[in-house]
Amino acid sequence: MKPYSMHNQVAVVTGAGRGIGFAISRTLLNHGAKVALLDYHLPQVEEVALLLDKSGENVIPLKVDVSEQKQVENAIGKIKETWGRIDAIVNNAGVHELIPLLELTDLQFERMLGINLLGTYHCTQTVLPTMVSQGGGSVVAISSVAGVLGSKIGAAHYSASKGAIIPFIRSIAREMGPSGIRANCIAPGLISTPMTAGFGEFEIDAYTKGIPLARIGKPEDIADAAVFLCSNASRYVTGQVLSVCGGALMA
Ligand SMILES: NC(=O)c1ccc[n+]([C@@H]2O[C@H](COP(=O)([O-])OP(=O)(O)OC[C@H]3O[C@@H](n4cnc5c(N)ncnc54)[C@H](O)[C@@H]3O)[C@@H](O)[C@H]2O)c1
Repeated sequence: MKPYSMHNQVAVVTGAGRGIGFAISRTLLNHGAKVALLDYHLPQVEEVALLLDKSGENVIPLKVDVSEQKQVENAIGKIKETWGRIDAIVNNAGVHELIPLLELTDLQFERMLGINLLGTYHCTQTVLPTMVSQGGGSVVAISSVAGVLGSKIGAAHYSASKGAIIPFIRSIAREMGPSGIRANCIAPGLISTPMTAGFGEFEIDAYTKGIPLARIGKPEDIADAAVFLCSNASRYVTGQVLSVCGGALMA
């Protein structure tokens, strides 16, 4: 089998309805995977499923709020019922908002952690027993450059949620490595998606001028990195943070 092939593999992508999650799902399918598309906007993810695979044989759209453990369990149960296995999960679902630190409330902070961090924990913990029984699997989580550097634009809670994902994923790498399970993060820089559509031209221009590759990222830039980490191409890679950010972060 070619190293980047996902043939005969089942992958789960959260937040698959648009942006980076959509691109990751499409790229995994193009590499031969069957893909479960999870998102809390069902019509959006059903549309994506139809667009990606009219036959419906290689995709399952599922309505899931990743912050709700029961919904995650039901979805993972359906995927196992349908395809019998899970080889990779990409924890991509996430939210972002800008609120100055001095105005931030506990509720806003908790909501952010509930989706970005707890959601990653729910989905990953739920698929791990399946991966253990299969003798291995790959866990990927979408962190962020902001999760390493912090934020000066009113996203302290977002940065905290993305930063905490890193030691969580590294703990999975350490604890589950002997069971053949690998776990890695991707730290995207600024990527052009609906999430960042509200960012001003001036801010984007200033940002891109400050990074070595001098352009904003595309969802496909992240998708190719995700396929690397899901597939056998990265068989000796675990516990890493792969920064896909045009050189904004070098560590
Ligand atoms: N776009 C960027 O510049 C950037 C940079 C760094 C990291 N990221 C991260 O990449 C991931 C994808 O970002 P994007 O730009 O594609 O965002 P997006 O807003 O365009 O898409 C996010 C998707 O996640 C889904 N989602 C949100 N909350 C959910 C929940 N509770 N349960 C299930 N689905 C949920 C949304 O419905 C949406 O389809 C996020 O985790 C984000 O934090 C994005």
